[in-house]
Amino acid sequence: MIDLKDVEKTYVTGTVEFKALKGINFRAEKGEYISVVGPSGSGKSTLMNIIGCLDVPTAGEYYLEGRPVIEMTSNQLADIRNRKVGFVFQAFNLLPYATSFENVEVPLLFAKLNGRYRRRRVLEVLAQVGLADKVNNKPTELSGGEMQRVAIARALANEPDIILADEPTGNLDSASGGEIVRIFDELNKLGKTIIIITHDVNIASRTDRIVKLKDGLVESNGNML
Ligand SMILES: Nc1ncnc2c1ncn2[C@@H]1O[C@H](COP(=O)(O)OP(=O)(O)O)[C@@H](O)[C@H]1O
Ligand SMILES: [Mg+2]
Repeated sequence: MIDLKDVEKTYVTGTVEFKALKGINFRAEKGEYISVVGPSGSGKSTLMNIIGCLDVPTAGEYYLEGRPVIEMTSNQLADIRNRKVGFVFQAFNLLPYATSFENVEVPLLFAKLNGRYRRRRVLEVLAQVGLADKVNNKPTELSGGEMQRVAIARALANEPDIILADEPTGNLDSASGGEIVRIFDELNKLGKTIIIITHDVNIASRTDRIVKLKDGLVESNGNML
């Protein structure tokens, strides 16, 4: 479902070029549970942004469900980001003045779904992450683990096939992090394709496959750390 061939990404800052990805070959099949590990600066977030169509390669090919991403229009890419992929970030990225309900509703509003459906779906996904009692709380009234669960509910709102998480437990204590990972385990059992970037060996060891990056290249695509 995800197929990257010799993908490169060069960032240009002023007159300075930096090659963050130097020829990545990576595949993920539907329903796989994968972790991506590697030192800071090895290109993990860059890779995730490309997989999620938040950014495009500067060389190489990326096929999503057999379709070359390079040929997609900006509307098609926006639709993939809204419906096909759910993103979870280390810093949660919630709207600070909005309630859990309002945060989770955002992608449903972008998808132009009607109010009755939105309400039902928001309550459903918040219940799915164990936050039925925090629907009307704002992020400042939630713990870090709860904020990340709101972010996961938001990622799930439009029923994406793929969940991409960039160090989702990086800002959490180990107990809250454990709850987050159990939610990912559960989502994978329900058939979601999940790719988690992590520094945590305990998280990586729970996934079916560990992909190791080093200096912008895949060092190992297997399940050995
Ligand atoms: N927008 C950008 N502009 C310039 N350089 C960037 C940008 N994003 C990332 N980089 C550089 O690319 C390299 C890989 O970054 P990143 O993918 O964030 O690594 P990781 O997530 O593994 O820590 C780093 O050296 C980083 O400084
Ligand atoms: Mg990163």
